[in-house]
Amino acid sequence: MVAVGWTSKKFSGLNDSRKVHVAMHRLRVNGIEYDVDVPGGTPLLWALRDELGLTGAKYGCGIGACGACTSLVDDRAVRTCVSTVAEQAGRRVTTVEGLPVDHPVRRAWIAMDVAQCGYCQPGQMMAAVHLLRSNPDPTDAQIDEALRDNVCRCGTYHRIRAAVRLAARLGREAAE
Ligand code: FES
Ligand code: FES
Repeated sequence: MVAVGWTSKKFSGLNDSRKVHVAMHRLRVNGIEYDVDVPGGTPLLWALRDELGLTGAKYGCGIGACGACTSLVDDRAVRTCVSTVAEQAGRRVTTVEGLPVDHPVRRAWIAMDVAQCGYCQPGQMMAAVHLLRSNPDPTDAQIDEALRDNVCRCGTYHRIRAAVRLAARLGREAAE
């Protein structure tokens, strides 16, 4: 378990008797437990990025409309900019950093050279992971529907669609 947050930072220079860390919220992120000392209403995205240093999930709109911050919480794709630390405490959070290097989505994204500027891609990838968990062989229409609220200002949608198809095939082959 790792303790992070405002209290530990603020008092990090003080002697041991005053380094009291009050764990406010326990987050389970990518298989590691953290006690994060931030107000409960803090967006999960800020805790991931600013407290845990996991900067894969991006800030785009801040209102749940663009998908750049998408991560998984248990088996749901969650907009972490509009979800609070208190709401997700104790749940299993997976960010793009938590995908194994040989994960079909990672392999497919590299093989199809999907990213242009890259800003939206962690959110696109996590939305793809979410889709493929429930539908391992989606049609193009199902891919478009599942990822329609993940915005890419570079217009890489055709490569995203191709990468999801490839990831689906890689995932099915790995399961055989
Ligand atoms: S930053 Fe979260 S949906 Fe846009
Ligand atoms: S790759 Fe640039 S916003 Fe999607």
